[in-house]
Amino acid sequence: MDRQFFSDDLHGRAELCRDVIRSAGALVLRGFLGNGRRSVSMKGPQDFLTEVDAASEAHIRCALAAHFPEDSFFGEEGGGAISERVWVVDPIDGTANYARGIPHFCISIAFVQSGSTEIAAIYNPAQDELYFARRGQGATRNGVPIHVAQTARFDAASLEMGWSMRVPNTAYLGVMEALLGMGANVRRAGSGALALAYVADGRSDGYIELHMNSWDCLAGLLLVSEAGGVVCPYLEIGSLDAGGPALAVAPALASETSRASNIPLDAAVIPACRQTAPACPATFVD
Ligand code: IPD
Ligand code: CA
Repeated sequence: MDRQFFSDDLHGRAELCRDVIRSAGALVLRGFLGNGRRSVSMKGPQDFLTEVDAASEAHIRCALAAHFPEDSFFGEEGGGAISERVWVVDPIDGTANYARGIPHFCISIAFVQSGSTEIAAIYNPAQDELYFARRGQGATRNGVPIHVAQTARFDAASLEMGWSMRVPNTAYLGVMEALLGMGANVRRAGSGALALAYVADGRSDGYIELHMNSWDCLAGLLLVSEAGGVVCPYLEIGSLDAGGPALAVAPALASETSRASNIPLDAAVIPACRQTAPACPATFVD
């Protein structure tokens, strides 16, 4: 990582991001294979923390600051500041899986400039799969272009939902009931960020969560839209610091999934959705 970087250098940030997420992935995988994942504590109900979460976040924060000291940093474990140019980081997403020895977790890094996500990276070190996107340049897995699924029927669709204590159970159960009633398979694998990468990769047809934090979903939402999928206008209906509803879905299923979840789609991506998508986001509580 001995390149020269400039303050408005998106290419340099993208290259740095790729290096940093891979080195953080090596650290996280060492902890998974060794003793790091066993040091589990609880941040709240169903909210797990290992010592590796903090170590991964510190590693990423230091590496980014060494090259772009004026960028701000906003991470799941240590919080931070949000400025015009900010790195939004989840050092381990799927910590509950990680702590129980299930190799379905990832690191997620997004770079946001003037309210727009420009760089997205999600890395699953257990499978050595690096998802990467830059706005307007498509999405890749390990350097190979990826595309969302072309699934057009709900009775052949497999969607994923995530949930947390931040939203009442009744709200999730209502959405689940609607999706099951439409004939969809609904699953949950425990990493919202990786679930979004799987939508981008065509492994899943959509992801819905009624409240997600920005570190969980900003990278994944850019990956899905760069892979040809449809997403909600996350930073308009929620915010970078408080989060909001998240929806990412294959195009042919978009309008009906939006209606079933009451999460609007980005009208700029599908102008027809202006008529059919709900106007208001799903409500949630802190
Ligand atoms: C959680 C996971 C989960 C999602 C939650 C997140 P964590 O993040 O992504 O799938 O449903 O909203 O908080 O705790 O594993 O980093
Ligand atoms: Ca997370």
